Amino acid sequence: MSTAEPPPVVDAMSPDGSKTMRRDTRRALAGEPLPAALAEGDGEGDASLTGASLALMQKLKTRTAVIGVIGLGYVGLPACIGIVGAGMRCFGFDIDSSKIASLTAGRSYLRHIGLDELTEAGRRKDFVATDDFSRLTECDALLITVPTPLDGHQQPDLSFVVQTCRTVSEHLRPGMLVVLESTSYPGTTTEVMIPILEGSGLKAGSDFYAGFSPEREDPGNSEFPVGAIPKVVAGSGPVAGRLVEALYRATHATVVVASSPEVAEASKLLENIFRSVNIALVNELKLLFMKMNIDIWEVIEAARTKPFGFMPFYPGPGLGGHCIPIDPFYLSWKAREYGQPTRFIELAGEINRMMPGVVIAGAAHALNEHSRSVRGARILLLGLAYKPDIDDDRESPSYPVMRMLAEMGADVSFNDPFVSVVPPKREYPEFEGLCSSPVSADYDLLILMTAHSEYRSIEYGCLGVPIVDTRNVVPRDIPGVFRC
Ligand SMILES: NC(=O)c1ccc[n+]([C@@H]2O[C@H](COP(=O)([O-])OP(=O)(O)OC[C@H]3O[C@@H](n4cnc5c(N)ncnc54)[C@H](O)[C@@H]3O)[C@@H](O)[C@H]2O)c1
Repeated sequence: MSTAEPPPVVDAMSPDGSKTMRRDTRRALAGEPLPAALAEGDGEGDASLTGASLALMQKLKTRTAVIGVIGLGYVGLPACIGIVGAGMRCFGFDIDSSKIASLTAGRSYLRHIGLDELTEAGRRKDFVATDDFSRLTECDALLITVPTPLDGHQQPDLSFVVQTCRTVSEHLRPGMLVVLESTSYPGTTTEVMIPILEGSGLKAGSDFYAGFSPEREDPGNSEFPVGAIPKVVAGSGPVAGRLVEALYRATHATVVVASSPEVAEASKLLENIFRSVNIALVNELKLLFMKMNIDIWEVIEAARTKPFGFMPFYPGPGLGGHCIPIDPFYLSWKAREYGQPTRFIELAGEINRMMPGVVIAGAAHALNEHSRSVRGARILLLGLAYKPDIDDDRESPSYPVMRMLAEMGADVSFNDPFVSVVPPKREYPEFEGLCSSPVSADYDLLILMTAHSEYRSIEYGCLGVPIVDTRNVVPRDIPGVFRC
């Protein structure tokens, strides 16, 4: 266990504290040290803590608490790095033993995440990756970062959360803090997590403490390292609230305390619904402007020069990733319980789901311009990952596009500098094992699906192949590019 250092400075959101919050976030983003005077540890409010909660608070403040992270994916792995970086000991738990083996061998399975800090912490015995869940009892606080997908009927699938909570309840001990980080509908912490944990016989708020803190990880975005992104936190009850706040003060420059888990859960969904709706709006306008022969990209560039009241969103071939295509439907499902329609969410989903079909129409049009049909055409998709410069292909619109083209008789290949082979896909088993092909002139059509940096330096003019560009990456002086 490493010696605890003074905590970095952070401040919770207060009604008049927003200016300070932004200043400290800016400092963290700039890599500047934060002033120690604002550090937690003033003891304010600690009078409400007694016994186990006071002991845990002391451990959190002195960085001697042991933190367990359950689910070592895109969210959990950076969380572990943040915890060891804050000088605390960390256990990483996952049911996927291949991930545990990789971590133990110091090999990252997520290309954009380096393991130097964890490997170094592992040498000091400050980080342990394990699938032995009996070791949960060695932790003082647990973060749950497991998947929350939709099921086959587009309804929330909380099975990973439920299973994890059942496992935790078997190993829960008095004084523990358990924080759900997985995105879900408001009420999940209170209605799902806490009752399962209380199945242990321990009571939330007195025997153990529970909270929710949504993750705002933006994989591959080096501009916003995880610890510099303000972290919304909430406890179930005031004591849990104090403990959750103290926990995240160790790892994040700015901690924003919400009054309840429901507010914190809803804030995450608002953020993602905001994106989904705005992307749908530009996607719909793209369809109109294409018919009016107006370039949507140029329109957005012009509009974004407005210095207030406008935020640019960009059209694309469809939504991807584990968040935007999924999370909004957690709320629309929950809303049915209250008989309240969520028309923006449904409409945005409808429009965004149409976009792969728009790409197919664009491909047919581009081939037609060269007197070719889709059937028999050799087509290369540039990009399988759903966003630039990462290897995350979950929910990628490239898959429905590949399937539709293949069903129409095209000979479809893909290129992706970050995804060399298609991993097993429950929804797209036909593509499993397909390897990335080099970009060459050996195709009838290229479809640019992902704005990987590498694709900005391809000599498209030299290739002389018709191109459908869904991301506005191909230079404007290249002829024969169909943007859709
Ligand atoms: N990926 C993102 O950018 C992002 C951003 C914000 C929020 N989130 C949310 O965070 C949560 C996790 O997403 P992710 O992208 O990290 O998922 P992920 O699939 O990358 O990782 C989840 C990990 O949990 C493990 N797991 C599943 N069940 C488990 C169990 N019972 N016990 C232990 N481990 C288990 C899986 O093996 C996997 O390694 C989701 O709710 C997601 O919506 C994700």
